Amino acid sequence: MRPLAILPSVLAADWAHIGDSVQKVIAAGADIVHLDVMDGHFVPNISFGPDMVKAIRGVTDARLDVHLMIAPVDPYIEAFAKAGADVITIHPEAGPHLHRSLGAIRQLGKKAGVALNPATPVSAIEHVLGEIDLVLVMSVNPGFGGQAFIRSSLEKLDRVRAMTAGRDIDIEVDGGITAETAGLVAGAGANWLVAGSAVFKGGPTAYAGNIAAIRKAA
Ligand code: DX5
Ligand code: ZN
Repeated sequence: MRPLAILPSVLAADWAHIGDSVQKVIAAGADIVHLDVMDGHFVPNISFGPDMVKAIRGVTDARLDVHLMIAPVDPYIEAFAKAGADVITIHPEAGPHLHRSLGAIRQLGKKAGVALNPATPVSAIEHVLGEIDLVLVMSVNPGFGGQAFIRSSLEKLDRVRAMTAGRDIDIEVDGGITAETAGLVAGAGANWLVAGSAVFKGGPTAYAGNIAAIRKAA
């Protein structure tokens, strides 16, 4: 399997002390920071934009994985690249020309990811396997942290693993990942595990234990 990474979603962090939370969660053993951008249109919630990414870029050297749940996405890709994203992940439904959008991300020198909603078939990415560095399998309907894991995402992970075999592509899973579900998703092929609630629960003193529990289970 490709190297395992644990990615805390700052959606579940303490936003009044966001820089501090990010630094502490990285110090506690997290690998990459996952940033959920929501527009209240593509998903039924609003989070933050490129200025937040830039602010977080300013307090950590950790890789930033920016998950864009916005439509249209094309007009904003450059702003997130300039803000300091390392990986930019988009949804196929967020624009008319997925192949072109992914090319734009790579042109900006960033890793390109594509995200599959629970309702989006794996076939939606068949034509872009040569343009991506990452597939993100959503294991909840996007929009909110703290939702229950959708079990059918295991079968989807398995199919994504088969489809991407032999390619330099990481498989990320996002939504409802805990010490209980981590083993299942890792067994189905995921190597980047996003976790919001399960990492940030209990506050800074609990981060290291929370991350270790997920890592051990995976
Ligand atoms: C949902 C987001 C997730 C979310 C995960 O739309 O993409 O990253 O923050 O939160 P948990 O881990 O609490 O399910
Ligand atoms: Zn996410």
